[in-house]
Amino acid sequence: MEIGWMNNRRQRQVLIFFVLLSSSRAGAELGPYSVMEEMERGSFVANLGIDLGVGLAELSTRGTRIISPGNKEYLQLNVQTGNLLINEKLDREELCGPAEPCLLHFQVLMENPLEIFQAELRVTDINDHSPVFSEREMTLKILENSPLGNAFPLKNALDLDVGSNNVQTYEISPNSHFRVLTSKRSDGRKYPELVLDKELDREEEPELRLTLTALDGGSPPRSGTTQIRIEVVDINDNAPVFEQSLYKVQFPEDSPIGSLVVKVSAIDLDSGVYGKISYTLFQPSEDISRILEVNPITGEIRLTTQVDYETILFYEVDIEATDGGGLSGKSTLLLQVVDVNDNAPEVTISALTSPIPENSLDIVVAVFSVWDPDSGLNGKTVSSIQDGLPFLLKPSVKNFYTLTIESSLDREVRAEYNITITVTDLGSPRLKTQHTIRVWVSDVNDNAPTFTQASYTLYIRENNSPALHMGTISATDQDTGTNAQITYSLLPPQDPHLSLTSLVSINADNGHLFALRSLDYESLRFFEFRVGAADAGSPALSSEALVRVVVVDDNDNSPFVLYPLQNDSTPCTELVPRAAQIDYLVTKVVAVDDDSGQNAWLSYQLLKATEPGLFSVWAHNGEVRTARLLSERDAAKHRLVVLIKDNGEPPMSVTVTLHVLIVDGFSQPYLPLPEVATDKVQEESLTVYLVIALASVSSLFLFSVLLFITVRLCRRNRAASIGDFSVPEGHFPAHLVEVSGTGTLSKSYQYEVCLTGGSGTSEFKFLKPILPNFQNHSPGSEIEENPNFRNDFGFSIQ
Ligand SMILES: *[C@@H]1O[C@H](CO)[C@@H](O)[C@H](O)[C@H]1NC(C)=O
Ligand SMILES: *[C@@H]1O[C@H](CO)[C@@H](O)[C@H](O)[C@H]1NC(C)=O
Repeated sequence: MEIGWMNNRRQRQVLIFFVLLSSSRAGAELGPYSVMEEMERGSFVANLGIDLGVGLAELSTRGTRIISPGNKEYLQLNVQTGNLLINEKLDREELCGPAEPCLLHFQVLMENPLEIFQAELRVTDINDHSPVFSEREMTLKILENSPLGNAFPLKNALDLDVGSNNVQTYEISPNSHFRVLTSKRSDGRKYPELVLDKELDREEEPELRLTLTALDGGSPPRSGTTQIRIEVVDINDNAPVFEQSLYKVQFPEDSPIGSLVVKVSAIDLDSGVYGKISYTLFQPSEDISRILEVNPITGEIRLTTQVDYETILFYEVDIEATDGGGLSGKSTLLLQVVDVNDNAPEVTISALTSPIPENSLDIVVAVFSVWDPDSGLNGKTVSSIQDGLPFLLKPSVKNFYTLTIESSLDREVRAEYNITITVTDLGSPRLKTQHTIRVWVSDVNDNAPTFTQASYTLYIRENNSPALHMGTISATDQDTGTNAQITYSLLPPQDPHLSLTSLVSINADNGHLFALRSLDYESLRFFEFRVGAADAGSPALSSEALVRVVVVDDNDNSPFVLYPLQNDSTPCTELVPRAAQIDYLVTKVVAVDDDSGQNAWLSYQLLKATEPGLFSVWAHNGEVRTARLLSERDAAKHRLVVLIKDNGEPPMSVTVTLHVLIVDGFSQPYLPLPEVATDKVQEESLTVYLVIALASVSSLFLFSVLLFITVRLCRRNRAASIGDFSVPEGHFPAHLVEVSGTGTLSKSYQYEVCLTGGSGTSEFKFLKPILPNFQNHSPGSEIEENPNFRNDFGFSIQ
């Protein structure tokens, strides 16, 4: 640019020169002059006076001057010395660029006469510029397989200087592969070429960095440098190589789909596509293609399906690694499948017996087989059933087992068994299979019905309505079905004469007992019978129980007065001496009650008296005593009405009327009268003292009767001589009966009984016990001992 501009200016100078030349005489030429560029102002170029051949004065007088092209005044003339001097620094590169030689034309003009001299100044180069590379770094790509001696031209350096001051040589930093040649273009410029002296290997040294130096021919020379980066370009000169030529892999058969079998790896020293490896299975078999899949990029080989040791336990396949240039390498993969205990034993039941009759032995309950497809210990099995069962597990042929009964079964203890067959293999971990078989035990009639109690005691009240439900007996049977169906019945009495069928009946299905008629405590206080329960098994089993029915008393009897008798037209008269003390025992009202317990507890009460306050009746024993001393004023005859009441609910009562005669002269009543001759007794009566003692020990009744009979005379006509009343004939004044309870009572009662009898031969009846004989208490036997027992009260037991 700079240079181009200067060229234009130079053309203009030349144009001006020709204009001047046409208007004046073109003179001779001066010079040529030469000057080095960059000289200081005032530097000497030439002496024009000498060159023009004129004296210094003429130079001055003729107005000699320098005409430079353009307005630039490169030169100046010193007219005193005639020296042509540098007016301003000349830069050759600015003035001429690369053109050589660099000539500067000017004219020397002299007037009077006008003369113009052509002159030229040659500006010579000095080495004031260094070679410069246009780029600080150059990149060169060279195939690694370039042949030796190949030259690789490089960009040259520029130097503004010309000639020998321009670039002369190139040098390269020391290296083992390249040297540099300095070559010359047709235009003479010099450029560097790299020449390969030693083969390149990208895999060894993919890149080289060199320093290129350009030197000019100045003295001293100037230089410029640039960096050369040489990329060694890869060629596919390497095939992939596997890290291992053989991959041996063991993996368990239970490896899940997708699990990594192995990661193969090959190396290709090339770069780029030539070094890019893809992995494939080499001619895989169908089995292999089914189970393996290789990732072409990573070389990971994974399972695509589950393998089974039991099917195939070994695989072999080649793996190929191919680079982008088509070179390949191979390796072999050996796969060994490792057995895993992945199969639990299998149990197959071949035969099963259920239900099993109880009490039976030698029965094969089940037959089963065991199978485990694993190998080694993984396939060995151990079988068992749970402890404590009456079954026995026995190995049979091959892998068969039988389950038999070890001890006989009792359905009533356990009717159902869940037998769990546990089969475990010996692998690690152990695998277990359980199979539960359910076995029922069928019933055999081996249990008789059992009554809930060995004996039953039923209480009821007497006077019941017929068909009353008295109670229920029940039995159970541990068997089941018809073996447990119970039928109840009344068993015939052991004594065939005694039959209770008229008293009770039983519902055969439910054991309800019903009365067949109304019961009377006073005639039958209890009875017993046997009940049978039989099941419907074959043969049937049965058992029996004793039922005792205790009749409960009802207050259905009024007190019965034994003394004094009331239905007589001539009642007894009690004699009381007028001199009797207070509390003198006049007589005693004697009554009995056929009921029992409270219903028979009697109390006595004076209801009415001829002279109130004279006599009192003792409530608890019926004794009639004087309440005060008697006096002459007291009337002789007295009538007392006594109420006798039992303790039942409601109470029942009866009244009795007593006749008392107060007599003078007796100090004691009932004195024996020895002076009375036996023959004078017209009618004799027996005074009977009955002492009846009933004792009770526990539930056994001891019944004993002590009978004291004291004979006293009751003189019938003696009374007439005593007073003016007469004792009616045939009446016995006083009888004492002592009764000590019945049944479980231990209370004592004393009764005076006045019996009537016409003579010693007259039949009299005294109280006989109405109780059955309890001395023999063995069950079921009491009643029969007194069949049709008759007592004085006319009850009978059938
Ligand atoms: C037996 O197993 C069955 C079913 O699981 C169950 O209903 C039954 O109660 C079991 N019996 C016994 C005796 O454990
Ligand atoms: C009085 O009654 C009793 C019992 O009821 C009877 O045995 C006796 O014969 C009767 N006496 C007379 C005289 O009626």
